[in-house]
Amino acid sequence: MVQANHRIVNAALAMITSLTTLAVSIVFSPMGGKAQAQEINVYSARHYNTDKDFYAQFEDDTGIKVNLLESEGNVLLSRQALGVNPPADVIILVDAARLAHGAETGIFRPISSPDLLAKVPSHLRDPEGRWFGLTRRFRVPVVNPEKVDPSTITSYGDLTKPALKGRLCLRNSKTTYNQSLVAYQIHRMGEVKTSQFVEDLIANVDQPLFSSDGDQIRAVGRGDCDVALVNTYYLGQRQGGDKGAEDKALADKVVIAWPDPVHVNISGAGVTTTSPNPEAAQQFVEFLVNNSADYAKANREYPISGTGSDPVLQSWGTFNEDNVSARTLGRLNASAIRLMESHGWGQ
Ligand SMILES: [Fe+2]
Repeated sequence: MVQANHRIVNAALAMITSLTTLAVSIVFSPMGGKAQAQEINVYSARHYNTDKDFYAQFEDDTGIKVNLLESEGNVLLSRQALGVNPPADVIILVDAARLAHGAETGIFRPISSPDLLAKVPSHLRDPEGRWFGLTRRFRVPVVNPEKVDPSTITSYGDLTKPALKGRLCLRNSKTTYNQSLVAYQIHRMGEVKTSQFVEDLIANVDQPLFSSDGDQIRAVGRGDCDVALVNTYYLGQRQGGDKGAEDKALADKVVIAWPDPVHVNISGAGVTTTSPNPEAAQQFVEFLVNNSADYAKANREYPISGTGSDPVLQSWGTFNEDNVSARTLGRLNASAIRLMESHGWGQ
């Protein structure tokens, strides 16, 4: 009840704020009438240059100015995010667990939008409408086919085979991408089996842990590792030549061994509870979802549904993706971190 009252008060405040903004823009608009002096502050943990062009398109289409402020995800998902200056209207995060956690800490307001409900599959958005997936990326084994036959890896469990001893490279456990992969394994097979999985996985690693997926791809291309686990867009960017000729040459020596089913992760966004411009903010999130195909393509990700039209991604063929909810991965995040720590998957 207290919460409901809070919501009513918040909604009333939001309405007053937006009416005030509207009144100010009508009074001071040099053009009069239609022109709007609106702007939104978008805090993003997506650090991809291609996003900026995309946001410029939204500005052109709507006349709403986007102030893009890049920040680290772990800062953005805490309550601290509501005290930032300038105030956040929209927060964009990468990783399912972070989005789920952000909702739990109360940084996102529920929004109701038929467009968002229709276009974002239910497992890739918050059931209470506080955040919505924007793009998909898969965490996949990549192999050097001269060393490993990709058809011998059809599940994440296959990476624990003794035949791969000393041949597997892994990124550190600090990355949320690996945490969500382990959370996914817990969801599929429970903590006991996942504990064994992590132990066996670590046992196959001889080299120091990597701090980036790009470095892992280079290492597999060079033959320093035979197998690694990476997000699809890192490979797509390199095979597509986005990172230069040298990276392309190495990435072209690497192929994906698709697990069946494959673990999906997302980037996503929500409108903050304290947004001074909630309507414009919602319009922005809707724009990203409505144009997810182009938004994703620019960074070699998959759109929020379907496989898109990027030729590099198309060349990888089809796959079977798991439909575990992003919220479930968020709930299992703490258990995943605990398991990783207990088996020495270092930071
Ligand atoms: Fe990334």
